[in-house]
Amino acid sequence: MTAYAKVIGTGGYLPAEVKTNEHISQTVDTSDSWIFERTGIKSRRIAAQDETTSSMAEIAARQAIEMADIAPNEIDLIIVATGTPENVYPGAGCMLQHRLGIKTGVAFDIQAACSGSIFGLDMANQYIKSGAAKTVLVVGSEINSRITDWTDRGTCILFGDGAGAVLLQASDEPGVLSTHIHSDGRFEDLLKCPNPQASAEENLTGYISMKGNEVFKVAVNTLGRIVDETLAANDMQKTDIDWLVPHQANIRIITATAKKLKMSMDHVVVTLEDQGNTSSASVLLAFNQAVRDGRIQRGHVVLLEAFGAGFTWGSALIKY
Ligand code: UT7
Repeated sequence: MTAYAKVIGTGGYLPAEVKTNEHISQTVDTSDSWIFERTGIKSRRIAAQDETTSSMAEIAARQAIEMADIAPNEIDLIIVATGTPENVYPGAGCMLQHRLGIKTGVAFDIQAACSGSIFGLDMANQYIKSGAAKTVLVVGSEINSRITDWTDRGTCILFGDGAGAVLLQASDEPGVLSTHIHSDGRFEDLLKCPNPQASAEENLTGYISMKGNEVFKVAVNTLGRIVDETLAANDMQKTDIDWLVPHQANIRIITATAKKLKMSMDHVVVTLEDQGNTSSASVLLAFNQAVRDGRIQRGHVVLLEAFGAGFTWGSALIKY
């Protein structure tokens, strides 16, 4: 009997244009030192005019497919997590399916803000464990630069563009050990990006707004709790975790979660210095980076976690 969703491939894509803190300091009242000290970010990538969420997703997905050494049409479920799809519909999942030349199976989008890839991993795991799908592609892809108010120094310093991908396949070897996802919709006003055309409110702009320090406090507490929940569900100790792959929002949030796990920063994958917060792409980009540079090895136990608008939050414990 098939019990596990095993990782068979990973991929990632970052657009070429680099926007540094110095660049941002030329247009808003901030500085490289303020941004780096408060966030850990030095630069972020910005998608070119002709790039889209699904074009970036395709590059990340093809890398994962190549690593797994499978044919694209073996994929029977594609889940794209994004808050920045190029269309309201058709979804980025269907656009990606077409780009990959797949005409079978099913593809759709999920929207859980920065937690999107963890929600995608949860769904992939459920589909594979139930036997409803055999090979599942999960992609987080975001063009945050197009929903960023570049005059708002509270948010424009944080976000970047990119795509991360993971391929999972049914296996009797581990595998995803557990996933845990949650939401609480009371916090719309703390972190929000409206859709002006579909909103009942008038005169809206479609940009991110955030009460940063309030989000920060909830994120630190919530991620601490998800660590406990994940360990307890697997009857594991903190020392059983080889790698923490956190959502890349702020180095101070990441450090707090590592401290909760009593984990040295040598075992935490950090990419935000030159990527910023790529929202749903961030965890899969970080996972891909550490797999490809050899830090994460087969058999390692990896804790992925994220927190985002909604609020949404979650974790995935994976034996790579
Ligand atoms: O991915 C989804 C989840 N998102 C997050 O988890 C983001 C969480 N929040 C954060 O990362 C942080 O709250 C920020 C990096 C956004 C802000 O850092 P902070 O330490 O919470 O700063 P703050 O908002 O409390 O602001 C402190 C001061 C304020 O000035 P006063 O009122 O003390 O005079 C701000 O106006 O820093 C000022 N400030 C800035 N100064 C220079 C805010 N943004 C900037 C800036 N440059 N870019």
